[in-house]
Amino acid sequence: MTDDAQTEAGGRPGKPSRVARPTGAGRRGGAAGAEAGSTTGGVVAGEHVRIYEVGPRDGLQNEARPIATDDKRRFIELLVDAGLREIEATSFVSPRAVPQLSDADELLSSLPRRPGVRYPVLVPNVRGLERAEAAGVDGIAVFTAATDEFTRHNIGMTVDESLEAFAPVLQRAATLGWWRRGYVSTAFGCPYTGAVVPERAVRVGLRLLDLGVDEVCFGDTIGVAVPSGVRDLLARAFESGIPVQRLALHLHDTRGTALANVVAGLEAGVRCFDASTGGTGGCPYAPGAAGNLATEDLVYLLDGLGMQHGVDLRGVLAAARFIGERLGRPLSSKVGQAGGWDPETGRATG
Ligand code: HMG
Ligand code: MG
Repeated sequence: MTDDAQTEAGGRPGKPSRVARPTGAGRRGGAAGAEAGSTTGGVVAGEHVRIYEVGPRDGLQNEARPIATDDKRRFIELLVDAGLREIEATSFVSPRAVPQLSDADELLSSLPRRPGVRYPVLVPNVRGLERAEAAGVDGIAVFTAATDEFTRHNIGMTVDESLEAFAPVLQRAATLGWWRRGYVSTAFGCPYTGAVVPERAVRVGLRLLDLGVDEVCFGDTIGVAVPSGVRDLLARAFESGIPVQRLALHLHDTRGTALANVVAGLEAGVRCFDASTGGTGGCPYAPGAAGNLATEDLVYLLDGLGMQHGVDLRGVLAAARFIGERLGRPLSSKVGQAGGWDPETGRATG
């Protein structure tokens, strides 16, 4: 992977890959794309992995207990202090649909701007885009799904209708020079219709790329995926021309398979994973959705594998403790409970 390729996908320029990967551009362009059929990236110590933090958005959107805007801002500051550089801060959606994030305008306007830190926000329509523009965002994520049934519940549209609604949003965002992501939820399974074949998710991903997103993120919205399913989806995505540099995974940990799925993603060459500090999260319109992969669990895994990510585990644990206290409940993450581990002393840390 070249630095240019990482930058294009929205990542910080990182170390060039030490894995020699084929350089055939995928049909959606991008720099060194995974060649059709190429799924081998491997887990290579020293390679850079982007951790895309979704705690303030996905993590808080489904919480019953209201969180003060000042506490959300403090949470985000702690995440920045921990080294996170892409933090999905909130959503510019209907306040009736997601009351917990109805302070998006105030929150976004007041976030500390630091070089190299991006705060993407969820935007479902032109109204959301206008609010985001007024609040001074620098990146957006539009969100659809592999299944009509889920998008109808989530945003009141079919998949086709959602893509039509996103076209002017993404066009305007491109004109403004914003980074753009497109989510494909229910990429592995839908709470309303069951199993989803990879072709269905990939088709939607390709259409998002055609609409101009920088990155497609496949979501295991209700946490039903296992590694073989991740491998299948990625193989199909690469065969269809989606460059690995423009692909991310968003894995809910509802059934404890998220880390195993990350390893499957890493082995296939994926270098961007979403995670939520404290392991919070879930979509209000996806019955059965539970927490995301916890950022602290992901950091521990990547540290152990010797991969570079720029995030400090102790800092993430401090942020996790902070939000756990504000939510008034213990956090679900393994590393949040056990701490890190110092191989020199054999003791837990953090
Ligand atoms: P609707 O009711 O069909 O739309 O909602 P509408 O156009 O009829 O508007 C209804 C009202 O909402 C109107 O207000 C609009 O002005 C207002 P009224 O005239 O009745 O007072 N409105 C807005 N207000 C503020 N900001 C806006 C906005 N748009 C309309 N942007 C809509 C359609 C899409 C707006 C609604 O369904 C919605 O906001 N849904 C958001 C659902 C959501 O946020 N879900 C969670 C995020 S997705 C997720 O978690 C999955 C993910 O994590 C990946 C994964 O896990 O797989 C990303
Ligand atoms: Mg989610």
